[in-house]
Amino acid sequence: MEVTDVRADIPFLDEVIYLDAASTTPTPQPVVDAMCEYYQHFNSNTGRGAYRTAVKATSEMEKAREKIAKLINCDAQEIIFTKNTTEAVNLVANGLKFNKGQSVVVPNIEHHSNFVPWLNLHNRGVKTKIIKSGSDGVLDVSDIEDVIDKNTKLITITHVSNSIGSIQPVEEIGELTRENNILYMVDAAQSVGHMSIDVNKINADFIAFPGHKGLLGPVGTGFLYCKKEIADALSPVNLGGGTVSDVTEDHFKLADVPARFEGGTQNISGIIGLGAAVDYINRIGMGKIEKHGRKLTKIMYDGISEIENSIVYGHPEHIYDMVGFNINGVNCHDVAKILDEQKTICVRSGMHCAIPAIRQIGAFEFGGTVRASIHYYNTEEEIKTLIDTLDEISRFLGN
Ligand code: ALA
Repeated sequence: MEVTDVRADIPFLDEVIYLDAASTTPTPQPVVDAMCEYYQHFNSNTGRGAYRTAVKATSEMEKAREKIAKLINCDAQEIIFTKNTTEAVNLVANGLKFNKGQSVVVPNIEHHSNFVPWLNLHNRGVKTKIIKSGSDGVLDVSDIEDVIDKNTKLITITHVSNSIGSIQPVEEIGELTRENNILYMVDAAQSVGHMSIDVNKINADFIAFPGHKGLLGPVGTGFLYCKKEIADALSPVNLGGGTVSDVTEDHFKLADVPARFEGGTQNISGIIGLGAAVDYINRIGMGKIEKHGRKLTKIMYDGISEIENSIVYGHPEHIYDMVGFNINGVNCHDVAKILDEQKTICVRSGMHCAIPAIRQIGAFEFGGTVRASIHYYNTEEEIKTLIDTLDEISRFLGN
């Protein structure tokens, strides 16, 4: 599929210049159709009824699980559905058993979703060891080596920073955790659907994923990859219907994985839509998505860097599918509002739910950064409009 084919499936893209893929992506028509099909023709609960439409709903949901598993190269039973990446991270933070004095290593460039749940473990006597990224937003693996010890229970790290798009050495860190017998979690919120992901190459025990960003799936969907060998170390945090195989008045037996983690009625239409989104991504082809993304990222990075008064964060060789920047002298939210008012350009501005990261890159004084983030549906013309409009803002308001 070409860019024009994808744009034809997303009418919203004719109304705005949408450069906020890192927040959420617009949903292509085949994904909407798959969800409508569920509501119109087999709107029944999963894993419960014996009647035919209930069996069909269950089978469609499980097909989605299989498609997702194939995409990231794991078994279907290693996929646990959640409502977003945040819920997936919290499932691990709250479901793992920690002994007092054990620690979690976490970088300061994380989204709050992969930071606050670990700080919150202070309540349970768990220490957090914070690693600082370099000025380019990339971690140095030797900094992690320096802080791990026998009390390190888990290292958790983002794959691609949500504030400046810096790509982290997740495979190298996977080697380190394996050699040192430390649990390993990766937040793939900004990488899945933007680049190929093979869980075996990363070698993580847990990977948290969104459905509604790079995969072009619906909001309210996400999933956790949980390596099957480690699943028994994780306790479910949301017990109820579907999570048990037997219950007496004083005892219950957990269901198999992943059912034990999926308490209550799931987002059935959303999950079926996510399965359709994985088909859609496969139809475009991950190689094509990556090539297009790298090309547009470079044009965007170079173009914004050349604007007088611009400050661009991160190193061009280490960022992907987004650029974080400021126009000196102009508040980041004002830049975003002007872009919208002048050319209906949608970008996110502010702290990006990553306040320690924004401090680390030196953008706190601007109220954060402006972030332009892209996917396969974006065009060179759109990037050029962004750059030209920023140039005007800089000439009128920058200093
Ligand atoms: N996590 C999303 C972002 O970075 C919402 O914008």
